[in-house]
Amino acid sequence: MSETVVSGIRPTGKLHLGNYFGAVQNFLKFQEAHPCYFFIADYHSLTTHPTPEDLGGSVYRVFAEYLALGLDPEKCTLYLQSDVPEVAELYLFLNMNAYLGELERVSSFKEKVRSQPNNINAGLLTYPVLMAADILIHHGTRVPVGKDQEQHLEMARTFGNRFNRMYNTEYFKEPFAIGSDEGLVKVPGLTGGGKMSKSAGEADNIYLDDEPEVLRKKIMRAVSDSGPAEPGSAKSQPVQNLFDLMALVCKPDVIAHFDETHKNGTIRYGDLKKQLAEDMETFVAPLRSRIQDMLNNKELVTKAAKRGAEKARESAAKTITEVRSMMGFRGF
Ligand code: ADP
Ligand code: TRP
Repeated sequence: MSETVVSGIRPTGKLHLGNYFGAVQNFLKFQEAHPCYFFIADYHSLTTHPTPEDLGGSVYRVFAEYLALGLDPEKCTLYLQSDVPEVAELYLFLNMNAYLGELERVSSFKEKVRSQPNNINAGLLTYPVLMAADILIHHGTRVPVGKDQEQHLEMARTFGNRFNRMYNTEYFKEPFAIGSDEGLVKVPGLTGGGKMSKSAGEADNIYLDDEPEVLRKKIMRAVSDSGPAEPGSAKSQPVQNLFDLMALVCKPDVIAHFDETHKNGTIRYGDLKKQLAEDMETFVAPLRSRIQDMLNNKELVTKAAKRGAEKARESAAKTITEVRSMMGFRGF
């Protein structure tokens, strides 16, 4: 079956190494093989009430970063959600058949009710409806997102199927996540915990535009063990994290060397981190410089966004025309 790939990216500041290996690399792969719609979910970000300055700044930044990292406006459709008003119209239509009970049961919504009880707006409640509109508007079938989005995708299937039933059609296809069995990587953070995440703070993250000295310091301060483990013992979580990071950027013989010294109890974590910092810098340097160039190239970024909006609107307008007609908005 031919696939159409759709994914939204929240404009939340700069990209870290986890975003690169966990998301961007998948996008780069998909754009070579399938029709792809990648967009900055700026309508969605209104649920947290950013100032116009913050919203505009972070949308520009994320868009430029994705371009710099290789998303190609000729190969994929890269656009801003807010440039495609048809999405808002489909959201309105889908909202008419989205029920309070099912929306209130969504985990991400319940989480917000717990964490910010005094700021629960209708946008948060209907977040999954807007996300369904994002996907269905292009007839998306594959959605490269993390596991936390699984429930939202289930809702997108529900809303699409409900529309199909109501209007006696097979118009919308079912979208599915790219599952964990399809080579998803998890990049660990530097503070010894689970995955690298913005919410874990500056010291946990390697940002793609970290300056060399910042990068080196962060890695040298990464959590490890205080001394070598007993020969033959298993790696602790923080040490395993460092090896996982090495696997992303170091040569196999370097990894084999530290593996060996870990096994025989002679490993020096200072040496390991020094090597990791060096190889990380080699990996990040070209990305950093491409990001900086792109951020400064407003003309190119603006042109790409315009081209993306045109392509996205073409696909979205077709869907909306067909949907309106199926629903009975047919003019006189
Ligand atoms: P964060 O957790 O830092 O807030 P986001 O939730 O904005 O990151 O993630 C954006 C994309 O990057 C998602 O597709 C997510 O699956 C991916 N991603 C984020 N962190 C990691 C990580 N540590 N390892 C792999 N992929 C990640
Ligand atoms: N909710 C997604 C996230 O938090 C972002 C998103 C919005 C999205 N619309 C989408 C992802 C449509 C995939 C498809 O990461």
